[in-house]
Amino acid sequence: MDIRVVKDYEEMSRVAAEIIARQVRHKPESVLGLATGSTPEGVYAILADKFKSGEVDFAKVSTFNLDEYCGLPESDDQSYHTFMENHVFSKLNIAPENTHIPDGNAKSLEKECASYDQKIAESGGVDLQILGIGIDGHIGFNEPSSEFSDGTTIVHLDESTIEANSRFFIDKTLVPTTAITMGVGTIMKARQILLMISGEKKAEIAYKALKGPVTPLVSASKLQEHPNVTVIIDEAAGRLL
Ligand code: F6R
Repeated sequence: MDIRVVKDYEEMSRVAAEIIARQVRHKPESVLGLATGSTPEGVYAILADKFKSGEVDFAKVSTFNLDEYCGLPESDDQSYHTFMENHVFSKLNIAPENTHIPDGNAKSLEKECASYDQKIAESGGVDLQILGIGIDGHIGFNEPSSEFSDGTTIVHLDESTIEANSRFFIDKTLVPTTAITMGVGTIMKARQILLMISGEKKAEIAYKALKGPVTPLVSASKLQEHPNVTVIIDEAAGRLL
């Protein structure tokens, strides 16, 4: 793992955005795995600026999002479809037909899981996967478990995740309790992984994920076994490393 400790959220975002921009310049038809949440918001804003100034062109890029809530309409303010539209798709020139987010309202969620993994494989696989980490160590929505998940799967969200994500909802009872997520196996197939970690609240889990034993109780710890992971972590989150 290439662990880079940077000063703060802004620097983390700048460094990560430069890695993504370099990837797209190097391979214009790159397949990017994308995350939602507070962690990548800064990166997406910088990429939008880079696109505006003509520094990067996303016309040939394809994207696959990590996850989506189940049972929340795509048009809901808090759906990951809406997040992506607001922060990424409306700002960059990615062709709409090249963007993919799992359908949390599919009639058969089981079929949706299998078809999502198939689409990723048909695209040639993810070149660069962007990740944040949950305070329980999840990547995607792969919550602590007795074994690492393999392909895209349906999960029940942990109480700590529901609590953390309730900051975006009017009421905690409105946070969906299930989600569809790329599995840890799906994530591990990416050729390169970029994990961003920011803030004091993430310090303990960052230590467990990066320096602790590899265990399905901390999904992100599996990344220690990936041959090409860059971790960009700010000083607050990295204080125990
Ligand atoms: C989001 C995702 C999650 C988040 C994690 C951290 O698509 O898959 O694993 O990366 O919950 O969320 P933030 O960045 O809001 O702290």
